[in-house]
Amino acid sequence: MSSISLTRFLIEEERAGHVNPDLRLLIEVVARACKSISVAVGKGALGGVLGDVIASGAASINVQGEAQKKLDVLSNEILLEANAWGGHLAACASEEMDHSQPIPDAFPRGAYLLLFDPLDGSSNIDVNVSVGTIFSVLRCPEGVEQAGDEHFLQPGREQVAAGYCIYGPSTMLVLTIGHGTHAFTLDREQGSFVLTQKGMRVPEETKEFAINVSNQRHWEAPMQRYVSDLLAGKEGPRGKDFNMRWIASMVADVHRILTRGGIFIYPWDRKDPGKAGKLRLMYEANPMAMLVEQAGGAASNGRERIMDIAPSQLHQRVPVFLGSKKEVAEATRYHLEHD
Ligand code: AHG
Ligand code: MN
Ligand code: MN
Ligand code: MN
Repeated sequence: MSSISLTRFLIEEERAGHVNPDLRLLIEVVARACKSISVAVGKGALGGVLGDVIASGAASINVQGEAQKKLDVLSNEILLEANAWGGHLAACASEEMDHSQPIPDAFPRGAYLLLFDPLDGSSNIDVNVSVGTIFSVLRCPEGVEQAGDEHFLQPGREQVAAGYCIYGPSTMLVLTIGHGTHAFTLDREQGSFVLTQKGMRVPEETKEFAINVSNQRHWEAPMQRYVSDLLAGKEGPRGKDFNMRWIASMVADVHRILTRGGIFIYPWDRKDPGKAGKLRLMYEANPMAMLVEQAGGAASNGRERIMDIAPSQLHQRVPVFLGSKKEVAEATRYHLEHD
């Protein structure tokens, strides 16, 4: 059977009425940017893009308060330029930008808003571990001439598309436009993404968790009890042994869970009580939640569905519990019973 490229897949989805030409083009624009980022990531030290951005002798700090990696900045620029070349189909907001970037006056107002984490897992760049790009697409509200930060503040259930690209041993684009979650592998000789997994499904149960347990002493009580029961294994209340994986690139941990199940948790911790956890709602939690739900999994903040959260700030953080449906429900039960 001949392989199905991303372009052909999207044309067939358009024929099925699942996507319109503008959104189809926007997804192609993002995919093309991810191919360029994959080339930069793949060069590693040879591309001169490792390490932190140093401006006048000091590390450049982004709106998150993080030291920026050169690849954070380069990936952000590649995505913004791709959106420009694609005709500014969307106003953009990203982890690396203080404020959203409007569409220039010379261009017709795009119908979409594009949010992205240009490079996820930055702490892994310099140690040659998989990193990725995460993106989320919302509709620009009716009648809005020039989208501002406030127009991006829509709950995750309003997303019309979400996806990530993982730069690993192979480069893969994982995408949903609301009709299942599908994986494409980059064929470097053709330079195109080829459909390699249609209709990914997350097993409802799991024996594998992904949590950075070094924060254990900072967690709230129900999270401590839930993990203590996990670690008690067969002899404990869960009655089964669990395995642990923590890659510290959300894209890589979520890709494993979409592929073989598991639960990924980055909970609230009192290390920085003002922040509701580490991960950002708009361009990490929401897109991953849509991908996982479209694959039959679940995503909560420990108490409610992530995609029902009404955002109040562009870069707001949220506790994340996502993956195998029954395990997410179990972890959420510990929190609801505690409240
Ligand atoms: P980013 O590199 O885009 O800032 O995101 C990093 C996030 C996420 O990818 C990962 O799951 C988490 O940070 C890892 O956090 P710890 O380093 O605290 O384990
Ligand atoms: Mn990230
Ligand atoms: Mn990032
Ligand atoms: Mn970051």
